[in-house]
Amino acid sequence: MKANIKKIGVFTSGGDAPGMNAAIRAVVRSGIFYDLSVVGIYEGYEGMIEGGEKFVELGPRDVSGIINKGGTFLRSARSKAFMTEEGRTKAYENLKARGIEGLVVIGGNGSFTGAHIFGEEYGIPIVGIPATIDNDLNGSDYTLGYDTATNTAVRAIDSIRDTASSHNRLFFIEVMGRDKGFIALRSAIATGAETIIVPEREITIDKLSRILEYGNQNRKTSSIVIVAEGGGSAIKIAEELNEKVPDLYDTKVTILGHTQRGGSPTCFDRILASRLGVLAVEGLRQGERDAMVGLINRKARFTPFITAINGEREIDEELLRVDNILNI
Ligand code: F6P
Repeated sequence: MKANIKKIGVFTSGGDAPGMNAAIRAVVRSGIFYDLSVVGIYEGYEGMIEGGEKFVELGPRDVSGIINKGGTFLRSARSKAFMTEEGRTKAYENLKARGIEGLVVIGGNGSFTGAHIFGEEYGIPIVGIPATIDNDLNGSDYTLGYDTATNTAVRAIDSIRDTASSHNRLFFIEVMGRDKGFIALRSAIATGAETIIVPEREITIDKLSRILEYGNQNRKTSSIVIVAEGGGSAIKIAEELNEKVPDLYDTKVTILGHTQRGGSPTCFDRILASRLGVLAVEGLRQGERDAMVGLINRKARFTPFITAINGEREIDEELLRVDNILNI
């Protein structure tokens, strides 16, 4: 079913992710290519509720020079007000007053939960572009920002390896990933980390200690354990290990934190953002709604928001197996 939409809004929401700017650019330019007006909504759902100056019509030159920039020039927010009926009503009134008939939301879990509820309540078509460094959505092999964040983590872990090997040290490095271990697993394989601690796989302190001990006996000059934040606190795990085997390791902890969220997006993320931006606009025109656009095996796929956010995205068992084999 073709939707006769003339004006759309685009906004970024939740945790920012590298590639969001490239996605905004793609939505604006493809919207204009298809003769739509495109309004940028600043500060996500917060801005939608506030209205006024938070709504700005964007032209092709307004999104020049941003494809290579991290963060989001539209800025982002985690909106509490949008969780209330009152907030959503205000947001809808502002959209209506501006003649906005469809939305592209660039974000992750929380953003799509809000979009689903809002779309159901007010019947407004909304298409989502998956953007979260956590890669924890169903319906796209990769989410925007995941590749960049992982590469940022890899660079940091490589640097830590240099100093760890010089001092025969054990490092616990905490990477982001609130509920999932995607960044942890991929960065661990790419840096040859000794093991990972992720929410998807239990590991006891005994087992951890055995893995590290094996490395010690096999002439390793340093050990690195990558901890996904959802798998537990690296500081606590390091403490537990040191209680179990006191004085055995010269242990340090590094938390990479928000360094992983910023920075210039990789080529991969820029292209993904560009493709998904175009597909999102084309989807809206073709009557898609209440769904996220993603790429599965490089093919475009629309997945209902509810399925995209259900949290069942599984870690790649094949990569876990590879990791296990190679870290001896
Ligand atoms: O969802 C992306 C993410 O970076 C998670 O990995 C992390 O747990 C969370 O956002 C941090 O959110 P905030 O920046 O609001 O502290």
